[in-house]
Amino acid sequence: MIVVEKVKEMQKIVDSHKKDGKRIVCVPTMGYFHKGHLSLMELARDYGEIVVATLFVNPTQFGPNEDFERYPRNFQRDLELAQSVGVDYLFAPHIEEMYPDNFFTKVVVGKFTDKFEGVKRPGHFDGVATIVTKLFNATKPDTAIFGQKDFQQALVVKQLVKELLFDIKIVVAPIVREPDGLAMSSRNVYLSEEERKVAPKIYEALNLGIKAIQNGERMRKRITSIVLQHLRQFREFYIDYVAVVDSETLEEPEEFMTGQSVVILVAVYLGKTRLIDNVLVTVP
Ligand code: PAF
Repeated sequence: MIVVEKVKEMQKIVDSHKKDGKRIVCVPTMGYFHKGHLSLMELARDYGEIVVATLFVNPTQFGPNEDFERYPRNFQRDLELAQSVGVDYLFAPHIEEMYPDNFFTKVVVGKFTDKFEGVKRPGHFDGVATIVTKLFNATKPDTAIFGQKDFQQALVVKQLVKELLFDIKIVVAPIVREPDGLAMSSRNVYLSEEERKVAPKIYEALNLGIKAIQNGERMRKRITSIVLQHLRQFREFYIDYVAVVDSETLEEPEEFMTGQSVVILVAVYLGKTRLIDNVLVTVP
């Protein structure tokens, strides 16, 4: 695996592979790899001959009171893990490479950004859309892989690609979970022992929502309150939001219809750590 730090060099490398008819697959990440990231890198191989993982902790997608400074980082470990799953290039630019002095441009995606994460984390999706655009221009992928855990992010990226005419296929890969159901996340390392014990209750609550839908419940508010009720039993949680919405439009109808794909989204704080999770379910 080759580590690349400069945009120009990355572009030269992918251009030459493209000339040879190779397909480029990009896996954008902020590092501190866990099995979820590695599953995206492994999946990447199904879509092309050259796998480029990107590692950049993007400051513009963190709010002023968020965890940019303390976001976990371990470059050496990430390098070894990416190598172990066959990544060809790790694009790991320094901050000045992506945001040099006199950088004034922002990519603002509409539609999916005015709800949930977009409201709770103002400016977050502008930062994501801006860096993803730059990462796409640096790595020129045919396909890019994103995780379902950041459900809204995946919709935002799809919208960005569609509306700004990027010729890139976006693949969304399933969430990888710990044996007790907790969705893998780089932020799980922040959890204390006690918080870690409570954290799987998020997935338990989501599963109660799935069960209710599968047992015939279609009223959005009732499904939402089943999930909320479960979470509220654990005083360790501060609930940021629970939303039960159409998975393609993020709309919140009173009642769901047969065949509709629904996503249940949860964001909670456990102490200072903000965790998000979601599940998809089709209405029977
Ligand atoms: O999902 C992430 O890790 C980040 O939001 C991304 C897509 C790499 C952009 O910084």
